[in-house]
Amino acid sequence: VPAGALGGRTVLVTAGPTVEPIDAVRYISNYSSGKMGYSIAEAAAAQGARVVLVSGPVALPAPEGVEVVPVKTARDMLAAASSVFPAADVAVFAAAVADLRPANPADRKLKKGRDDAALANVSLTENPDILATLAAGKRPDQYVVGFAAETNDVLMNAHAKLKKKHADMIVANQVGDGLAFGTDDDEVWLVTADDEVLLPLMSKRDVARRLIEVVARHLSRPGA
Ligand code: C5P
Repeated sequence: VPAGALGGRTVLVTAGPTVEPIDAVRYISNYSSGKMGYSIAEAAAAQGARVVLVSGPVALPAPEGVEVVPVKTARDMLAAASSVFPAADVAVFAAAVADLRPANPADRKLKKGRDDAALANVSLTENPDILATLAAGKRPDQYVVGFAAETNDVLMNAHAKLKKKHADMIVANQVGDGLAFGTDDDEVWLVTADDEVLLPLMSKRDVARRLIEVVARHLSRPGA
């Protein structure tokens, strides 16, 4: 892949966790560090792309030359990603979106003693699936990448996710035993409808560079 392989292209990346308010001071979230998504944004920018990184709250600096759109909730992330998606040639959904959110967040702090019932019974409702929602309406010229963290049957589940979410590629890894979440290294499969490629254990930055190479090669194919 030549340097600048993504020149003139727009790449949308989602990254990090989402946070879902319970009340004015409490939230539900997860341990996503954002490292994978930020590395992908960095690698795409290094190949000359215009990159928009829609990011949940993380402790990482904005990669050089990347436009960061900070969001908190899954619904904010969907709104921000939706407004960029039509202009994107490539969309990589690396965010660890909270599957559920409190159904009725309080706009003040719930108090022990006074609001015990509300605190003990936070009812949850399902968040939108950002990847599935946007990829369902993708054009043939757009390339969509999703992630899958599985504890078992990694490849089988990746193929199922590919179809269910209308993605062109799923980056699948095995989790559990301290693998993947918050770590710097990753061993992943790049799964497409007709190919399964194992990237051996390497840094997330190297995974990101390899992924961007594969995506750039796909875009430069005749008919792509
Ligand atoms: O279904 P699962 O959470 O395993 O799918 C993971 C993939 O879907 C990731 O690419 C993630 O960014 C995306 N996703 C999303 N919105 C959700 C849940 C997952 O975009 N609500």
